[in-house]
Amino acid sequence: MRHIKVWDPLVRIFHWSLVAGFTANALIVEDESKLHEQMGYVVVALVLLRVFWGIVGTAHARFRDFPPSISGSMAQLSDMATGRRRVHVGHTPLGALMIYNLLVTMLAIGATGYMMTTNAFWGVDWVEELHEVLVGWAELSVVLHIAAVVYESVRTGVNLPRSMVTGAKSIPEDVRLS
Ligand code: HEM
Ligand code: HEM
Repeated sequence: MRHIKVWDPLVRIFHWSLVAGFTANALIVEDESKLHEQMGYVVVALVLLRVFWGIVGTAHARFRDFPPSISGSMAQLSDMATGRRRVHVGHTPLGALMIYNLLVTMLAIGATGYMMTTNAFWGVDWVEELHEVLVGWAELSVVLHIAAVVYESVRTGVNLPRSMVTGAKSIPEDVRLS
């Protein structure tokens, strides 16, 4: 096994705080409460901090390390279809697309949530409906995200959830890196 340090503490703390904040607001906290608004703003602040870190952070945390890539995503799909075991040290191309989707969706949920608190948009149906639809989209994305993490972990033999806890990927010797 090779042990490669990938995720710095900020990325890991961001990830699990986002999981807690989003889950709390989507499933637990009463949505007409002040706590719902505060928790929503915490989620937005976490995402903005991550965006900043994506520009100035450590090597694998930077957006430059995982640009949105159609050709990369196609290659990953072909790896999955043909059973080729290749491990990306940082985020995979499909993972990257999901991450951008989640980050943008969180900001849009925050924006529509804020709009509902303003005089101009308070009680306006489409804003409330859009907030709800975006939350539904985020929930669907999260289910797919978790399924993909589990699937890729089993397929490549690299325990990805553990790497999001310890910061290091443990990669079998016979797997090619890219
Ligand atoms: C509300 C639920 C979740 C949300 C919103 C979410 C969101 C994200 C985001 C934004 C990233 C990118 C991390 C970064 O570079 O900053 C990420 C990566 C990751 N997440 Fe989640 N996540 C959720 C749940 C989970 C769960 C339950 C697991 C564990 C089973 C998990 C495992 C991972 C792993 C392993 C990565 C890194 C993937 C890679 O190696 O490229 N996530 N997630
Ligand atoms: C992670 C971020 C957030 C999540 C997951 C979330 C989730 C939800 C959900 C599931 C509902 C119920 C929708 C319905 O059934 O009509 C809701 C309603 C609402 N949210 Fe959020 N929300 C978030 C952020 C925010 C923010 C930042 C604000 C405002 C600052 C906000 C303000 C509201 C308001 C005013 C309602 C309508 C409550 C009512 O029925 O009067 N939300 N949100």
